[in-house]
Amino acid sequence: MCGNLLETRDLRVEVNGVPILGGVDLEFKPGLVYAILGPNASGKSTLAKTVMGLPEYKITGGDILYNNESILRKTITERAQLGIAYAFQTPPSISGVKLDDFICRICPDYQCKAESDTLMGETCASKSELYDNFERLGIRNLAKRDLNDGFSGGESKRSELFQVLSMRPKIMFLDEPDSGLDYDSLKVVGRELRALREKGDTTLVIISHHRYVLEFLEVDKVYILQQGRLVYTGDMNDIPALEEKGYEKFLEEVTG
Ligand SMILES: Nc1ncnc2c1ncn2[C@@H]1O[C@H](COP(=O)(O)OP(=O)(O)O)[C@@H](O)[C@H]1O
Ligand SMILES: [Mg+2]
Repeated sequence: MCGNLLETRDLRVEVNGVPILGGVDLEFKPGLVYAILGPNASGKSTLAKTVMGLPEYKITGGDILYNNESILRKTITERAQLGIAYAFQTPPSISGVKLDDFICRICPDYQCKAESDTLMGETCASKSELYDNFERLGIRNLAKRDLNDGFSGGESKRSELFQVLSMRPKIMFLDEPDSGLDYDSLKVVGRELRALREKGDTTLVIISHHRYVLEFLEVDKVYILQQGRLVYTGDMNDIPALEEKGYEKFLEEVTG
């Protein structure tokens, strides 16, 4: 318990009256990198969305602690202010909100000078740094587009990553940050996450099936969920066997 940035204790969650998580205990320590794996529909996204506080995910038991204090009564905004961030598996699009303007609003380094100012590019002190970051992520062309509106799969994943990175969170849940990415985009995402790991002041929780990103990041701990429960805790050494055998056979062997 001691030394955890975030933990879930016997977390039980239902959606529309259907139980999804059946008592999950997970621990996340500061600065480490975690992978949450598991077959489709095992509750990985549900877990991350529940930690973030999305309203349709109803907690029916257990607790979520951040720095040893329950956050169950906190709103999404309050959780984000504490330093928790979630990058969606499928990022929602928001018409009328420009990506660069949005980044300006959420990033502590890019504060706009006036509340009424929507043309942040013209007034933001750190304009050039902001645009350097757009370039680095290969999405400079998206800066003036509406948030995720008509973005390709790979573009929306990189835009989503940029948004979450801009919030400077203490712990980020990245829900399949590599899905739908071509090799070049995968490298970009891998490089960004690796740089974050090397800095060491952010806890990364990666939901992914992609060996490349997990190996590139040197994940410290692997949690496997199945049917809404934590069924296995391991590390990177398990990945080759998992890949070879598939979840069913791997779990059968390790859990008996
Ligand atoms: N908003 C929702 N409405 C209805 N069912 C949901 C909702 N979110 C998740 N579920 C269901 O919960 C189960 C777990 O889903 P999810 O957490 O997305 O799994 P994973 O991310 O592991 O693939 C699935 O059966 C899914 O259909
Ligand atoms: Mg999912």
